[in-house]
Amino acid sequence: MTDTPPVQAYRGSLEKLIAKIGEARGFDLGNYRRAYIERRIAARLRTVGLHSYRQYADLLDEDPREYDELIGTITINVTDFFRDKVVWSHLRPILKEMIAAKRVGRSRALRVWSAGCATGEEPYSIAMLLLDLLGDHAKDFVVSVTASDLDSDVLEVARQGVYERERLRHIPPSYQVRFLQQVGEGRFEMAPEVKRLVRFQKLSLFEPAPFRVMDLIMCRNVFIYFDRDQQVRVLENFWNSLARGGYLVLGRSEKLAPEMAARFEAIVGRERIYRRPSRA
Ligand SMILES: C[S@@+](CC[C@H](N)C(=O)[O-])C[C@H]1O[C@@H](n2cnc3c(N)ncnc32)[C@H](O)[C@@H]1O
Repeated sequence: MTDTPPVQAYRGSLEKLIAKIGEARGFDLGNYRRAYIERRIAARLRTVGLHSYRQYADLLDEDPREYDELIGTITINVTDFFRDKVVWSHLRPILKEMIAAKRVGRSRALRVWSAGCATGEEPYSIAMLLLDLLGDHAKDFVVSVTASDLDSDVLEVARQGVYERERLRHIPPSYQVRFLQQVGEGRFEMAPEVKRLVRFQKLSLFEPAPFRVMDLIMCRNVFIYFDRDQQVRVLENFWNSLARGGYLVLGRSEKLAPEMAARFEAIVGRERIYRRPSRA
């Protein structure tokens, strides 16, 4: 079997397939890059042993569970605690400074949004870091980490907050002792003080975000596959959801679209850490 999609001859019916999936599941594949969608559908076709979009459309009718398989293949929910160590080493002093500024100012609220949170490792990592940085001052602050994803299955895992031992390997040992408790053979649950801070919510990034004045938005390894227009819309959404001076962190291979790059300040450009200017 070659890597070339066996579906090139049926390119025309890709549009029909996209429309079919949109109607059945309200999920608009048209917002993703075309080449990416073709590759992911080709991968599904190989898995199920079919050779055309038309055959695949028939399979979706016969077995609607295939919609979930396909959407899962497109959205990919790989994640990790403290994913990309370098980013977290930059975030630490940024959040420390943010907390210090809030302590001298009037606001005692810290609002974070993890957009595209998958199984919860990213929002729990932020919550642990914030609790560590706040120390004894945690009680003086109202901390909220809103964690959103469009996939209900990953959100269910995230809400449970129970992970196998090998998933914990990037959590610093002192955090493992403080923030995790064993709940079974090789299984660990996030401590209540961490879970309490994180609220999970089903939300598609293709819809306008219902948030305002976020201090930090992390949207990592999520929109790399969206097409250009959709990326700009998502970034507009983030802009509107951020407080002035709030931070935006993207994945290492995700760049600000040029029309948005002029609006954000690059704080650590290489690590995709940006800021909405204080006066914008
Ligand atoms: C690769 S994971 C990234 C998880 C985490 N942010 C990280 O970097 O480790 C991508 C997540 O984005 C979610 N996702 C993809 N498209 C989305 C969309 N349009 N709206 C909301 N979430 C989406 C997927 O369901 C998946 O859980």
